[in-house]
Amino acid sequence: MGKFLVDGRHCLSGRVRINGAKNSALKLMVAALLGHGTFEVKNVPHITDVETMTGVLQALGVGVRFDSGTMQLKVSEVQGHTPEALVKSMRASVQVMGPLLARLGRVEVARPGGCNIGSRPLDIHMTSFEKMGATIDVEGDKFVARAPRLHGADITFRYPSVGATENIMMAATMARGETVIRNAACEPEIVDIQDFLNGMGAQVKGAGTPVITIQGVPELGATDFSVIPDRIEAGTYLLAFLVTGGNGTLENVVPEHMTPLLEIVSSMGAEVSVHERTITVSSPSKMNAFRLITGPYPGFPTDLQPQMVALATLAHGTSEVEEAVFDQRFGYTRELAKLGALIEPNTSTVAIHGPATLAGANLVAGDLRGGAALVLAALAADGHSAIEGLEHIDRGYEAMEHRLRSLGAKVVRVEE
Ligand code: UD1
Repeated sequence: MGKFLVDGRHCLSGRVRINGAKNSALKLMVAALLGHGTFEVKNVPHITDVETMTGVLQALGVGVRFDSGTMQLKVSEVQGHTPEALVKSMRASVQVMGPLLARLGRVEVARPGGCNIGSRPLDIHMTSFEKMGATIDVEGDKFVARAPRLHGADITFRYPSVGATENIMMAATMARGETVIRNAACEPEIVDIQDFLNGMGAQVKGAGTPVITIQGVPELGATDFSVIPDRIEAGTYLLAFLVTGGNGTLENVVPEHMTPLLEIVSSMGAEVSVHERTITVSSPSKMNAFRLITGPYPGFPTDLQPQMVALATLAHGTSEVEEAVFDQRFGYTRELAKLGALIEPNTSTVAIHGPATLAGANLVAGDLRGGAALVLAALAADGHSAIEGLEHIDRGYEAMEHRLRSLGAKVVRVEE
């Protein structure tokens, strides 16, 4: 995988076109398992998580072609044995359970892996499948779910889990009768999946609100679709402008999906101007410290928390960041400290004292968004940094070094 070599303190400017959302594209790919026919999905990012999901779908019998951001999926018969190694390498693969259970009545999935950001139980998924008539057994390292035909149910989530909302939505599209999900996650990616499923002939409504209602239908077809822009990738590039004191424009974004980030960077002194599909940001001469707490949408996205901590190292005063979605999402702060960041970690909060004078160091990314935070901090640091662990960054950022270079950053990937 190699490493990034970063020469810091070059001011970024220009325009960057944001890709389709990883967290939508992966789920749309999975949703296709419910259908029949040929799908054409545009605006799919070229990232390794999409490659992994391609491997999962191919193993299940789906034909996949992917070229220049457009993915063609051909679905006829599918089978229910998911490839263990691929599933273990990516948590989103647990999402195949809903569609395969609905379609085949039986599915075996290895316990999934994913980012190293804390314990990630699946109880909400599993208890909800049970409410829909499934039996779930844990056999060794696998979940085995069985349900001759799922039935609708009225389900209240104890927490608005994104993955569980999607899994149950997908399972319910072909269940007998009506399913209601209460306390559902409201993320924009859930609306995208609703639109995709309805394009296939499903009857889903309410996505984007806490109550989603699904009327089961006997079968689903195919659809053409374009994935929504990735609000996390967009946020990361917006912060890349700010950490280098630069200014620039994000193209192909949905600004209202990014409100919590735009509010915070505005309060820090950045100038933000929003148009229909673009956001332009300019750095202030001095950034103010801030407080934030992550939360389910429309709260501040946990997937931008590490990148915000990187920015906080440059703000004047003490910033406080509380992580309220995952229980161990501050591992990357140890690496930021190697650059000279002044960060006091507690269990679920960190205090960041700024502005710190950052100086280049050798860093190792341990998870996807923590890795992005290291890149941002290295762009802001004096001198040279090396960042290993690119397999994490590549999971969610397409050609990050090329895109940063096109904005004026000095970043190269060297293979080892
Ligand atoms: C998705 C996103 C991830 C993002 C997260 C929160 C994808 C591929 N990943 O992950 O990038 O950070 O949403 O916005 O879309 N939980 C339980 N029991 C469950 C399910 C979840 O306790 O059955 C807990 C988790 O441990 C976590 C919290 O709920 O603390 C949020 O998890 P969830 O919303 O399910 O996130 P993911 O779908 O895994």
